[in-house]
Amino acid sequence: MTENPQRMRRLPPMTAATALRRMSGMPLDPATDLRTVFYRELELCAIRPGDTVGVLTQGGKRAAYAEAIAEAVADLGGSSFHVDIPSDGAPDDGGELGVRAAQTGLATLGPTLVEAFGRCELMVDLVFMLWSQQQLEIRRAGARVLTCVEPPAVLKRLFPDANLERRVLAARALLEEASVMRISDDAGTDVTYELGQYGYLHQYGVSSDPGGWDHFASALVATVGADEAVNGTVVLKPGDIVFPYSRYVAEPVRLEIERGRVTSIDGGLDAGLIGDYLASFDDERAYGISHIGWGMNEHARWDALLIGDWDARRSGTAGIGMDSRSYFGSVMFSTGPNVEFGGANDTASHMDVPMRGCSVWLDDTLVIDRGRVLPEELAPGTAGPRVAAR
Ligand SMILES: [Fe+2]
Repeated sequence: MTENPQRMRRLPPMTAATALRRMSGMPLDPATDLRTVFYRELELCAIRPGDTVGVLTQGGKRAAYAEAIAEAVADLGGSSFHVDIPSDGAPDDGGELGVRAAQTGLATLGPTLVEAFGRCELMVDLVFMLWSQQQLEIRRAGARVLTCVEPPAVLKRLFPDANLERRVLAARALLEEASVMRISDDAGTDVTYELGQYGYLHQYGVSSDPGGWDHFASALVATVGADEAVNGTVVLKPGDIVFPYSRYVAEPVRLEIERGRVTSIDGGLDAGLIGDYLASFDDERAYGISHIGWGMNEHARWDALLIGDWDARRSGTAGIGMDSRSYFGSVMFSTGPNVEFGGANDTASHMDVPMRGCSVWLDDTLVIDRGRVLPEELAPGTAGPRVAAR
């Protein structure tokens, strides 16, 4: 554990022009240093003088993030501490790479650390302890949690602002009003989710409310279908992406879904890989249907898996692919657990599948037409200048 006392250096106060730029919905300049990235992010997370921020890393990964966060917290007049727990054989960015965070060694985060993080205003999770019991306990104690595992280029490209927050919350409101979501595409997808039994999720990359959670950087909305109430066909098209493989589908994959579970998988290589992945858990619940929703960041890149940060890949810190999950107007289909939304399926299997070119109906209203988001309140704001590094 490393204590980082308050430092004397103060950054200049935000000018009106800076504030306006932040409303413009533009990414940070790629040259922005990490300290500035986190200064701006923690400012959005409402860190104020006197606040305490706890930072969690594992196996020494993202040490540069921890250092930059400590400096940014000090710049904001707060104090911070940093805990690095042993890697304990945990997979790289294990949260959604086929092994759920609750099973990746975070059990070593015992009651003393849980209590310490719970007493912070903000915990920055650089490990991805999503959905773990420890994360829930920390939030219940009143701390807000910000997960951050994406490489610097993604943090800057998808950097959040007030405009993104407004649009994501508007998307969630539309989703919450709907009783039925139908998704279709030209490849043969036609699937219906009955909604309303379980909870909703929105992410725009800022955690500013006590007990809250968000993932910097991301922008999406999601929910899950009611029990046994997802039916139809999902056809993955070439170019759609399958996580945990982080692979662009090369040949169509046809998934038949009956009463909330996958009943058949047809296609070539990709269908075989998906079938192997689901079968590997030896768990009938792996075939359950999980969350469904769409991405909201117009700066996200579909080709991000191909232009990735190679240094980050080599060091096992490439993130979990938030570009495609956040890609504006893409639909994210998912299999596996629904327990995080209030359901009973807590299988360890989890597959996220961002799909492009889909149409989405909420009840009788078309909200996404072949990947084009229609409601005016979800549209990106007027473009402004890039936010320059200070
Ligand atoms: Fe997921």
